[in-house]
Amino acid sequence: MFGGHWSDILANADEALICIEDEDRVGITNAMAGVSNGCDACHMASWSPAYLHVTNGIIDGWLKGKPTKTGVNEQDAEPAPEIANRRVMQELWFRYLAAESHLRSWELQGLSKELGMIQPEAKERAKRWARVAEQADLLSNLAASRKLEGMKEAYKEMTQTCLSCHARNVGGREILIPMAWD
Ligand code: HEC
Ligand code: HEC
Repeated sequence: MFGGHWSDILANADEALICIEDEDRVGITNAMAGVSNGCDACHMASWSPAYLHVTNGIIDGWLKGKPTKTGVNEQDAEPAPEIANRRVMQELWFRYLAAESHLRSWELQGLSKELGMIQPEAKERAKRWARVAEQADLLSNLAASRKLEGMKEAYKEMTQTCLSCHARNVGGREILIPMAWD
């Protein structure tokens, strides 16, 4: 699912660049909306209630049908940790805003440049998630046919892909659960 959102973003950014060559304003606008929808779709699926400042107090309020004051019983009074991912995301957001502003003022060169800076990150992440999905499928098929052979390799390949992306975007992470072959 995550890989799919990045692929959508990439496909729409590619499409916008093709439309820029044709100076097709409607095409560019639609493709830009496609990029933005790709971002939103993943955020809707992945942002935790806490990240969205939905707290126990707010849930209680909903259950009782009462409004809740902002800041009451905030679970996330501590700011979210500074992980690399946030900076990458903020950068994408600034690029997208700049692209929109170039679209409004019809500055196609600037627009191409901003879209060109969104593409590599989307491509990189789509590729990494595709690798995770591929190995997860393989694992799942092996498990369904009750074959242990090849499982360790597929699991290693999959988790290496998790870990290398975390090294790049999150920080270190330990694997704590012993595996069937340990
Ligand atoms: C595959 C999922 C996914 C996609 C696609 C995605 N994001 Fe995000 N984004 C996240 C997650 C997860 C967070 C939460 C970051 C955190 O917890 O620190 C986030 C956070 C953010 C934030 C808030 C950063 C902050 O200051 O805390 C911004 C802004 C953002 N994304 C912009 C974008 C833009 C723009 C795009 C599209 C070009 C995009 N994202 C695509 C998953 C995604
Ligand atoms: C393409 C990059 C990428 C891949 C691949 C990836 N992750 Fe992540 N993962 C992230 C990012 C970015 C965050 C941090 C999101 C946030 O909170 O801002 C994250 C957060 C997490 C968390 C959140 C909990 C915590 O301690 O912060 C878990 C658990 C996790 N990943 C597990 C996995 C597993 C398991 C895999 C492989 C099957 C995987 N991830 C593959 C990028 C990735």
